[in-house]
Amino acid sequence: MGVVIVNFKAYREGFGKRAVELAKIADNVASRCDEYIGIAVSFLDLPVIVKEVGIDVYAQHIDAVDFGSHTGRINAEMIKEYGAKGSLVNHSERRLKLADIEYNVSKLKNAGLTSVVCTNNIPTTAAAAALNPDFVAVEPPELIGSGIPVSKAEPEIVENSVKAAKAVNSSVRVLCGAGITTHEDYIKALELGAEGVLLASGVVKAEDQKRALEELVGLI
Ligand code: G3P
Repeated sequence: MGVVIVNFKAYREGFGKRAVELAKIADNVASRCDEYIGIAVSFLDLPVIVKEVGIDVYAQHIDAVDFGSHTGRINAEMIKEYGAKGSLVNHSERRLKLADIEYNVSKLKNAGLTSVVCTNNIPTTAAAAALNPDFVAVEPPELIGSGIPVSKAEPEIVENSVKAAKAVNSSVRVLCGAGITTHEDYIKALELGAEGVLLASGVVKAEDQKRALEELVGLI
């Protein structure tokens, strides 16, 4: 069983009512396949979606702060209170300082939540693995949203990121992402040693989101 995390980002097709619909699609597909399917949704949609689906729901980001005088911030304990499974950390579109990545990984762990630290290349994947998150997800930024799958266009980045991460921390789980769209892209990622994929546009922006996710996990 591989891991598939669908990041709804701030796409209109993955926000509000459409996010709830897409979450239900993901929940339904997950119930019919062997893969683990999780979703990463907007803060605004998260409390609604966790009540509507059985699959794990992640935040797309958290701030490296505790409770206190931090205007407009959301921390690990807050997303826990609303039923999140965990959070992406340091996504390419929401980069953090090293100290803040470490803070978030440790806060998520202390809260019993899952951390998915995003990285952009092999050295940063090794560095992130050293912080002992649950997952690292390597995503070359130039391929994000391109439809060109990292697992085919840059297989050596996936393969060597897995090796580098495992050399530092044998228990960390490695995902890859950027341009992943088809079942073939997904299988190739698994063949390269990744435990799964983090993806967005291939499903969220698809004309038929249900069909896209079914195809990705090999149901059709
Ligand atoms: O978080 C997933 C992401 O950055 C990859 O995006 O659209 O290339 O699947 P996409």
